[in-house]
Amino acid sequence: MTTPVIELREVSRRYDNGPPAVHEVSLTVRPGEAVAVLGPSGSGKSTLLNLIAGLDRPDTGTVTVDGVRVDRLSEAGSALYRRSKIGMVFQFFNLLDDLTVTDNVVLPARLAGMARREAGRRAAELLQLLGIERHARAYPARLSGGERQRVAVARAVMNWPALLLADEPTGALDTAAGEDVSRLLSGLHAEGQSIVVVTHDLGLARSCTNRTVRIADGRIIEDARSQEATSQEGTSRTVASETVTSRAVR
Ligand SMILES: Nc1ncnc2c1ncn2[C@@H]1O[C@H](COP(=O)(O)OP(=O)(O)OP(=O)(O)O)[C@@H](O)[C@H]1O
Ligand SMILES: [Mg+2]
Repeated sequence: MTTPVIELREVSRRYDNGPPAVHEVSLTVRPGEAVAVLGPSGSGKSTLLNLIAGLDRPDTGTVTVDGVRVDRLSEAGSALYRRSKIGMVFQFFNLLDDLTVTDNVVLPARLAGMARREAGRRAAELLQLLGIERHARAYPARLSGGERQRVAVARAVMNWPALLLADEPTGALDTAAGEDVSRLLSGLHAEGQSIVVVTHDLGLARSCTNRTVRIADGRIIEDARSQEATSQEGTSRTVASETVTSRAVR
């Protein structure tokens, strides 16, 4: 058995005196699995991602990611953990406004020590695949919500993270832009990237993931693996995986 990329044991988190936002959730995700997290607004999806990302701590339970006990990390350890293992697309993007699009995208790679030229090349490739290369030198404030969302996606995958966490990565996108993101995620999945994506977009869930976890009131109410998604890896997706995430630039 391979070590799980995510292992949540009986994780609970409540804000103030409200009901638990996440309630005794146990979840194991194996390397290479791509999991769609579905559920109504307020059901705890973002809270769950934040716990996995070490941006929040559970009140009870344990969070282990790629062998790291995330719930026990110090603040510095947690930042290092995110930088070295996690790519994250936030629901509200969290781009740095005083950096250009390219500088936002290359930042994780530069922090990890990738050479400037190499990082620039990979960033340009990602921006092109996501259809926003013409904004490479723009500042986020000048971009539409959908364009910002795609910058956030490029930044998250820049470093080939062990785990990609995406919170509604197509929430602000029209169909065409959503398909660019969807193709990128499918390509990554085909290549073995472990992914957890929160989405209301069933098309995205179907095309990019092979497992669906439904949440209601902070609890997992359904967890289904699809044969379909794994056997459906079409040629376009294979092409995408070769061009999209080609590790040749490494
Ligand atoms: N910082 C916070 N302080 C207090 N309550 C919070 C906080 N963040 C979330 N909550 C509450 O926790 C519950 C779960 O919120 P969460 O953001 O995880 O839901 P979600 O499933 O991501 O919803 P959405 O689909 O709208 O993004 C909600 O009831 C929300 O009001
Ligand atoms: Mg949310």
